[in-house]
Amino acid sequence: MSAISRPQDHVLIFDTTLRDGEQSPGATMSHNEKLDIAAMLDEMGVDIIEAGFPIASEGDFQAVSEIAKNSKNSVICGLARANLTDIDRAWEAVRHAARARIHTFIGTSPLHRDITALDQDGMVARVQETVSHARNLCEDVQWSPMDATRTEADFLCRVVETAIKAGATTINIPDTVGYTYPRESADLIAMLRNRVPGADDVVFATHCHNDLGMATANALAAVEAGARQIECTINGLGERAGNTALEEVVMALRVRNDILPYRTRIDTTKIMGISRMVAAVSGFAVQFNKAVVGKNAFAHESGIHQDGMLKNKETFEIMRPEDIGLAATNLVMGKHSGRAALRAKLADLGYELGDNQLKDVFVRFKALADRKKEVYDDDLIALMAEASADEDAAFLQVRRLRVVCGTEGPQEAELTLSIGGEERFIDATGDGPVDATFNAIKMLFPHEARLELYQVHAVTEGTDAQATVSVRLKLDGVVYTGQSADTDTVVASAKAYVHALNRLVMHKHRGNLSALMSSAG
Ligand code: KIV
Ligand code: ZN
Repeated sequence: MSAISRPQDHVLIFDTTLRDGEQSPGATMSHNEKLDIAAMLDEMGVDIIEAGFPIASEGDFQAVSEIAKNSKNSVICGLARANLTDIDRAWEAVRHAARARIHTFIGTSPLHRDITALDQDGMVARVQETVSHARNLCEDVQWSPMDATRTEADFLCRVVETAIKAGATTINIPDTVGYTYPRESADLIAMLRNRVPGADDVVFATHCHNDLGMATANALAAVEAGARQIECTINGLGERAGNTALEEVVMALRVRNDILPYRTRIDTTKIMGISRMVAAVSGFAVQFNKAVVGKNAFAHESGIHQDGMLKNKETFEIMRPEDIGLAATNLVMGKHSGRAALRAKLADLGYELGDNQLKDVFVRFKALADRKKEVYDDDLIALMAEASADEDAAFLQVRRLRVVCGTEGPQEAELTLSIGGEERFIDATGDGPVDATFNAIKMLFPHEARLELYQVHAVTEGTDAQATVSVRLKLDGVVYTGQSADTDTVVASAKAYVHALNRLVMHKHRGNLSALMSSAG
């Protein structure tokens, strides 16, 4: 029997933003960011949080353990390959949770059997050994046959039966490469439920990737065929084209409850807040026309649409903005707005701040309001992203920047950086103000990382609009993303570059930043 009991019409939401999502190149999150996201997932009603892959690194292990210790309602799950060392490490990390789960997997398709050099009998024996080992440690065990949608049906039934007999309580069916099609996704779940002895005693889960844009449709089709757990990520974050998006399946189940009569525990009004948070910390901006959480998802610009909306909102809206936590109004803030108004506005936008955090954000807000007449919702969202980026900025910080531009090049940047607490100054030139600034950063803090992406967006309209800048650096195959926002594009660029460098430094010197600080200082 599954370790989580639930009514038949209940679909469990398993969020893997912190594991499969974080695996996407460039989406690396800091320890504190992971804790914040886990707390939000727990609060919004996610049933199971896959908090990471504890054997992958000391940092992953620490994050999963701390998330487990802090958890309130959600089951905390750690991923493990099909070997005893991985499973022991995962258990070590999750066992602090009030409700813990071990998720172990092995690639079962012919391609994966070739890689592991296991024949069918060998793989069955491995599944038996690893799942029963996990079950001896933890009463809640999930097992996944990776690349299930390209595994032979008979063999899939055989390994699923083995996992159930060995004690798995949830059987997850991954479409690892985003290859399946909705009808096929449903047929696969139905086939397993019909053919595998013991299938009624476990929960079947669906785990879809979005390579052909069908992840949401495939997950919902699996639910119609009897899957009762959907694995998903916020904003559909994930390797390649990403995973099933949590906000899409949850809102589809809610809006189309007439044909999908299932329930989730998700408080949908928290969706916008966590979507923004994940976009900010991962550096993966949400595309404007993204379903549910895109900036344009509730915008109505054409004359016909606006006219219809004014007469009756349901003409063009199948969900209400407030259902996903979008403030109904874009109330403008300005330099006379007080702390209470700011707190209320941020709460509307999905940010719940403690007193200390509010104090810091209020100082930033005042500084912005001094430079910008009107502060819109999007300005505040950029400001919150900026505030979370700064938390990482302990090692490198932009202190002062002055650029000299003109029709005659080269442009010049005078930059003061704080490096491990010590201020250093340099004057550099470049082909344009941003190039000069980046050259100055490289001279003050020499590094081999390559600039992979430099992107600027205006947050709102007008010449006093803030610019949000994203920078992506790559070193030794690892991608580090940084963001910043400022009314001055060059300042935002410098801070975004430094944010990415801070992440690189954190990653390279994980756990030993204080030694680095003292050697620099
Ligand atoms: O996509 C996949 O197959 C996975 C497994 C580890 C479940 O993420
Ligand atoms: Zn996956």
